[in-house]
Amino acid sequence: SKPLKVALLGAGVVGSQVARIILNEGPTLEARIGRRLELVGIGVRRLEAERPGIDPALLTTDLESLVARKDLDIVIELIGGIEPARTLLLTAIANGASVVSANKALLADDLGELSRAAEAKGVDLYYEAAVAGAIPIVRPLRESLVGDDITAVMGIVNGTTNYILDKMVSDGSSFDAALAEAQQLGYAEADPTADVEGHDAAAKAAILAGLAFHTEVRRDEVFCEGITGVTEDDIAAAEQMGCTIKLLAIAKLTDDDRVIVKVHPAMVANKHPLATVSGAYNAIFVNSREAGELMFLGQGAGGAPTASAVMGDVVTVARNRHRGTASHRGSSSSSRAVAPIGES
Ligand code: HSE
Repeated sequence: SKPLKVALLGAGVVGSQVARIILNEGPTLEARIGRRLELVGIGVRRLEAERPGIDPALLTTDLESLVARKDLDIVIELIGGIEPARTLLLTAIANGASVVSANKALLADDLGELSRAAEAKGVDLYYEAAVAGAIPIVRPLRESLVGDDITAVMGIVNGTTNYILDKMVSDGSSFDAALAEAQQLGYAEADPTADVEGHDAAAKAAILAGLAFHTEVRRDEVFCEGITGVTEDDIAAAEQMGCTIKLLAIAKLTDDDRVIVKVHPAMVANKHPLATVSGAYNAIFVNSREAGELMFLGQGAGGAPTASAVMGDVVTVARNRHRGTASHRGSSSSSRAVAPIGES
């Protein structure tokens, strides 16, 4: 049968790993999907960058024309940022392609719009890699726990800031030196302000809260304080108290059933499992009525771990295309209100 045609937008830290897997693991992917994947184009910002193992003939800087093709089955969006990603994905969906995205900033703003567009066209929209890198957390919230009632989601959802705080504590590194390392290791956003000021964690918290509480939560409804105000003295004081400072994302329901979402540095007692989460690892606790407490732990940033989550989505939506189904369901089945910022 005909191969499924895939377009990839972005060949950075994550995109280059996704391209590598699609190009090198063809037979394995085909066996799991039941159909071959054909990478028909890679949209990039600059053609000159060094990209070992990628046929330059696949590269284009004309992302609009790439997604405007009517024969695409899957568009993988790894360019980040709101525009042009939003318009490119709406075009891809309008042309009948299923979409896989790791773009937390976009999804924290426009998940509702993108979900409705995908649902109207009967195509899939998957975004496991948008939250906590390699950790499966989107699908557990969207699928495994959908028969339960989640009451709280809490955890560490930014690898860069966890890496920085961890290095400051364990090696006595300076903030700037630890940030430079996190950038070198491919953990940080293109503009690391998004990491250190908490915006990246806030976007992920909005996505998690929307899924957990069956509503739409936007990034600007999340209280957000990053780690730039955390001093070496704060870290020493926390140590004295038997605590570790972690940047936490917290989403919970109020007594009157509204949603509260916030991101801020917090003192975590050293005996709590979150205190031991090191390097660029992330961890998320989920509380639900029937299941009780669940914990998810793994690498929250970096090229290969994030590519693992992207490829899980690619194989899933490819299987659905092969079978002629779409398994996507919109996330917003209730109209739960989000409490104003500052209320807690
Ligand atoms: N910059 C992000 C982080 C990458 O450090 O967690 C993963 O979304």
